[in-house]
Amino acid sequence: LRLGVLASGRGSNLQAIMDAIDEGRLSAEVVVVISDNGEAKALERARLRGIPAIHINPAQFPDKHTYEEAIVDTLKKHQVELVCLAGYMRLVGRVMLEAFPNCIMNIHPALLPAFPGLHAQQRALEYGVRYSGCTVHFVDEGMDTGPIILQAVVPVLPDDTPETLADRILEQEHRIYPEAIALFAAGRLELRGKRVYIKEA
Ligand code: GRF
Repeated sequence: LRLGVLASGRGSNLQAIMDAIDEGRLSAEVVVVISDNGEAKALERARLRGIPAIHINPAQFPDKHTYEEAIVDTLKKHQVELVCLAGYMRLVGRVMLEAFPNCIMNIHPALLPAFPGLHAQQRALEYGVRYSGCTVHFVDEGMDTGPIILQAVVPVLPDDTPETLADRILEQEHRIYPEAIALFAAGRLELRGKRVYIKEA
């Protein structure tokens, strides 16, 4: 399975995906990494592996439509089959959704539909929930609203700060994102309406 990863920052989820591939837990290949941020550590991580790492700067396009066309061109040029958002800090628009129908995944650091959007860990803490976690989902036109593929739960502890909670969640992100991609690669995900069914191996 040919993966294209979109990342805006640190790229620890990208790293987890590449590590899962190296360790034989995921039969796929990251063929291109694209960032809207030229300084993203994710680009560096890709280059270290010899993976094409491309900065596509939204400021150089007149609007979101043409910006996304450039992304789609790059993904298609590398024959990407599944697009993985890994800390990509922009809402995906119509151009990308139509080019990759039901073939874009995202990871979010909360148990959706709770706490979509930014600062999910801090908001979970402020709300006072006892458990939070992370969600891998297919991307639709909403903000973190697409069909849920996998989730993992972590406890919220009394002494947690947004950082300690984020770390606990991140560990689970690194486990379930490669797992969800592996299910997709194996053809085991079936979308029926809003629900994702996991077929037996
Ligand atoms: C992760 O917490 C992810 O869930 C969220 O953004 C963060 C990205 O981290 N969407 P990284 O760049 O993968 O390290």
